[in-house]
Amino acid sequence: MLGLPGAGKGTQARAVSEEFDIPEISTGSMLRDAVKWQTALGVAAQPIMESGRLVPDSLVCGLVEERIGRTDCDRGFILDGFPRNLEQAAFLRRLLRAKGCGMALALLIRVDPGLLLKRLAGRQVCPLCGSIYNVYLNPPLRAGFCDRDGSALTQRPDDSEEAVCKRLKEFEAQTQPLIDYYRGVGVLREVDGSAEAAEVTREIFRILRQS
Ligand code: AP5
Ligand code: MG
Repeated sequence: MLGLPGAGKGTQARAVSEEFDIPEISTGSMLRDAVKWQTALGVAAQPIMESGRLVPDSLVCGLVEERIGRTDCDRGFILDGFPRNLEQAAFLRRLLRAKGCGMALALLIRVDPGLLLKRLAGRQVCPLCGSIYNVYLNPPLRAGFCDRDGSALTQRPDDSEEAVCKRLKEFEAQTQPLIDYYRGVGVLREVDGSAEAAEVTREIFRILRQS
């Protein structure tokens, strides 16, 4: 699942995971957990993430390798936010080959950049179950609390205007070449992420059922 910050990768990865009963693997969430628990990885990643830069491949690739190696991934999985550059894509190709899988399908959620600031500024996430809300666009039933488990919702430190700006630049520099590569080898599918979330979900399900 590829797309600009705020395109809806996390929102849609959750929907795909539930519909197809496969694990959702979000490197952003795994790194945020590492920060929360202040593991060695989390301590190293925290300042990088808060500034909006990408965490070094050497830290991220090992996380993905360990996660994909678990048996619950044998029937497939949805990756949210990985790979992020050409080097990570080469690493994933090697992992998939070793697992006896074909090439991954790359799903790009395209979105009008003008929508992103409102999406990111209004985002609230559940620290317990990972549900994603938006105070303007997709509010929880009770303001500030998760519909599923009642946890107090939080905001991400990298949703500050300065960090968002850096994240957009990182996308352009590192991820855009990867999108061009996936398009070139014919595995890229694109959806219009500016539409309502439920409509984007329907389109993604349609693409996945065809593939
Ligand atoms: P990561 O967590 O992957 O963040 P990101 O790519 O910046 O994307 P976001 O999570 O901000 O947006 P999203 O597309 O998931 O949108 P969401 O569904 O939440 O990465 C964070 C950091 O971790 C990176 O900067 C880097 O430091 C590090 N990192 C992670 N992976 C890495 C890697 N592979 N290599 C190196 N470093 C890595 O939706 C956003 C909001 O919009 C929500 O409020 C939602 O409710 C709302 N919304 C969603 N869809 C719609 C819709 N269709 N209509 C209206 N509202 C919508
Ligand atoms: Mg996300």
